[in-house]
Amino acid sequence: MNSQNDKISILIVGATGRLGSLITKHCLAQPKLLVNILVRDPQKNKELAASVEKAGGKVWKGDVTQPETLDEPLKGVHTVVSATSQFGPKTALDGQIALIDAAIRNGVKRFSPSDYAENFEKFSREELRDFGIIEFKVAVREYLKDKPLKTIHFNPGVFMDSLFEFGAKNFTYWGNPDHLYDLTSYEDTAKYVAVALTDENRAGTYNFSAVKLTAKQVADIYNQVRGANIVPRCQGTMEELKKAFEAAKNTDPYSFMVIMLGIFLVIYDDRSTFDKVHNSEFPSVKTTSIKEFLEQNPNIKLGQLATKMGSL
Ligand SMILES: NC(=O)c1ccc[n+]([C@@H]2O[C@H](COP(=O)([O-])OP(=O)(O)OC[C@H]3O[C@@H](n4cnc5c(N)ncnc54)[C@H](OP(=O)(O)O)[C@@H]3O)[C@@H](O)[C@H]2O)c1
Repeated sequence: MNSQNDKISILIVGATGRLGSLITKHCLAQPKLLVNILVRDPQKNKELAASVEKAGGKVWKGDVTQPETLDEPLKGVHTVVSATSQFGPKTALDGQIALIDAAIRNGVKRFSPSDYAENFEKFSREELRDFGIIEFKVAVREYLKDKPLKTIHFNPGVFMDSLFEFGAKNFTYWGNPDHLYDLTSYEDTAKYVAVALTDENRAGTYNFSAVKLTAKQVADIYNQVRGANIVPRCQGTMEELKKAFEAAKNTDPYSFMVIMLGIFLVIYDDRSTFDKVHNSEFPSVKTTSIKEFLEQNPNIKLGQLATKMGSL
């Protein structure tokens, strides 16, 4: 059993979020990690806060848009893991930069930004600058490049959960019907992050993909598990998607519609598929297939959120 002093002290920022709470859960299961969390409201998930404290970690109240709340929690921390939300520049850009600056000020050795995205490598900087909230992730990566701390980036492709929840009714897509999605569940991503962090020297970019499938292949599995008869429907070409995005962006650059269309411009583009994934470096993580995911989540139905929020 490691003593608290031998452990790698980590601070998870955004630990009450969907991904952040799973990262916290799986990091707590790693004896080599001392898990601390920074949350806006410690009352929001009392069970999570109690489990962190029980394992010897601290629960800090803080906000990345208030830099004065960040110094104390960062003292003595080896690795910062950000899993904050990306909906708007205040948190996703200015807040991340404030967190990086505070991490450097306080001698943090390693920083993991809130990436959790697809493959951006083959897109030009100009394209990414245009794609709404994706711009923030890219700008944070660039900001980190010459900073005096190690960085570790995690990319799961598209979250399986999001594909089903935000996929429009009847499983529509844009562009190429044979486009391959890299899909990983939120939970499996959190498992990878937790295992990767147990090596204090590990740095670089880690891409994960539990499955690589086309829309038709995903729909076939969905139909088999749910007894449905969904046929993926093309919404239009990638050029038409770009036009729809531009028109919506002119009305309100950070509306939900613009955010989703900006994300679609990446996830339906063949360039966003990973050439290389790092699953095999973490053999202890057993990933979830689409069939298993659907069986484990009987309430997930295609388009449930898209339908609530207006079809995309
Ligand atoms: N690849 C994909 O398919 C995909 C899909 C979805 C998300 N993502 C990415 O995954 C990451 C996590 O997303 P998520 O779905 O877990 O988001 P989420 O559930 O909305 O959680 C975001 C977390 O950020 C915290 N937060 C927001 N503003 C903050 C601030 N100013 N200071 C400190 N904490 C703040 C929230 O705190 P409260 O709990 O207090 O609100 C919450 O804990 C993001 O990078 C997102 O872009 C990727």
